[in-house]
Amino acid sequence: MKGVGKFGEVMAGEKGPVSYDQVALRLEKIIRSGSQRRAILDFVCRDLRKVPHYTWVGIYLVEGSDLVLAAWSGPSATQHTRIPIGTGICGAAAEAKETIVVPDVRSDPRYLQCFLNTRSEIVVPIMKDGAAIGEIDIDSDREDAFTTTDQAFVESVAEELTSIF
Ligand code: SME
Repeated sequence: MKGVGKFGEVMAGEKGPVSYDQVALRLEKIIRSGSQRRAILDFVCRDLRKVPHYTWVGIYLVEGSDLVLAAWSGPSATQHTRIPIGTGICGAAAEAKETIVVPDVRSDPRYLQCFLNTRSEIVVPIMKDGAAIGEIDIDSDREDAFTTTDQAFVESVAEELTSIF
């Protein structure tokens, strides 16, 4: 279904229609609210999960040569709270400083399993002054869940997040 905003797509959610533009607007407000960084990261994870096919959302921050889980929202916790840069899809995206979309995690040898039900994953680096300082990691229980709209949407959230660091 087409809407009117920047992303122009509306999805059927459990509690009625959800549009990327609505979620993006709310996120922009909270990111620019001047609240504490920790609170903002928690909110961003929770609100991103309003997109129906975003099953688990986490934000990792770079600490030395590792990615450390700073905030997450989803049905269960991950044991991968510290991932060396270069390891897993998360580590690969931080190393490449580029978004990685994996349509089927079962056929990507880099994949570090967190949840049995995950079928696809998107990892978007948060960049500052040319360096990856963190990333948004989203798992979906649906195979091939992440479209070019998802990529543009999550990249815009990551860009917005740069301002709180
Ligand atoms: N699957 C990720 C690890 C993090 S969990 O998805 C939360 C990876 O391959 O790096």
